[in-house]
Amino acid sequence: MESQPGPRVLSGIMPTGSLHLGNYLGAIVHWVDLQHRYPSFFCVVDLHAITTPQKPTELHEKTREVAGLLLAAGIDPSVATIFVQSHVPAHAELAWMLDCIASMGRLERMTQFKEKAGREREAASVGLFAYPVLQSADILLYSGRPPRPVLVPVGADQRQHLELARDLAARFNHRFGVVFGEPEPVISEAGARIMGLQNPTKKMSKSGKNPYDTIRLLDSPDDVRRKIARAVTGPGREVRFDETQPGLYNLLTIYQLLSGESRSDIESHFQGKGYADLKRELAELIIARLRPLQERYQEIRRDRAALEGVLAEGCQRARVEADVVLQAAKSAMGLG
Ligand code: AMP
Ligand code: TRP
Repeated sequence: MESQPGPRVLSGIMPTGSLHLGNYLGAIVHWVDLQHRYPSFFCVVDLHAITTPQKPTELHEKTREVAGLLLAAGIDPSVATIFVQSHVPAHAELAWMLDCIASMGRLERMTQFKEKAGREREAASVGLFAYPVLQSADILLYSGRPPRPVLVPVGADQRQHLELARDLAARFNHRFGVVFGEPEPVISEAGARIMGLQNPTKKMSKSGKNPYDTIRLLDSPDDVRRKIARAVTGPGREVRFDETQPGLYNLLTIYQLLSGESRSDIESHFQGKGYADLKRELAELIIARLRPLQERYQEIRRDRAALEGVLAEGCQRARVEADVVLQAAKSAMGLG
């Protein structure tokens, strides 16, 4: 893999809460697509999860659940490397080195920290504050030697973190000599920000309090029907991509991404029909996409040893990749 020219792909997902349609359409479908074009690394970021309190047994289980869902969604361990972040010590090690070149002021401006720490800033963990630096380390470790760009497929909420990763790479390379490639965000136009079904001005999120806001990848068909039926649409009757109606717009965006049809075809399809028709058809579209994914997931979870095997092999491959870059970074900094 090392000798392959051209960019690499790396992305990560936290093993907290439940994976949902936003994660799937904003990130995971792109991972599945990109894995066939570039050497790709997908990481279940358990070290990021512990920046807020987690129950150890649940964290361990969630990590397997998320890995299983990624495989069920189409990540193919024979072409891509799938691994658990904490299994590859280079992530924590490089994160410390980057902590020492990142500035407090820059991290204080990170919106995700401000949102997550909320009014409890003083009580927030140091890890939560340094979270984006660990994310930079995740990415930069897969630059390869010689350094190549790293494509990072994510939802729009990660844009600011990727800018930090770019700046830290540039700062390091400038001070110590070129070790890291440039991180490049891959953020799709549609799907980069799937909104909550009840509150369509806020993104669909794992940690949301209202279960009706989120379609989880493991929701039953009845759950999907109920949640879509209850989704907020707004006033009016026509089924059109109208950005002034965020609820309707979000449902149509999900419809567009799952059906693969153009916006104008969708609008003509629903001409003369109402919101109830859209909701009924959308629910069935979601169910049809989730069903095979859920079936594969159940199969994967039945064979615990096989899943552990995939993660162990991913860990080996990721360690080889990451260690080469870590050693180059250490020697550039005068460590080791
Ligand atoms: P997280 O749930 O924060 O671990 O995010 C995992 C990936 O899913 C990241 O690339 C996020 O940007 C993406 N993501 C999370 N929520 C959404 C959403 N509502 N719409 C689109 N992408 C999302
Ligand atoms: N911070 C990302 C999120 O909340 C998860 C993440 C961790 C990540 N490390 C990464 C994403 C590296 C892309 C690349 O979604």
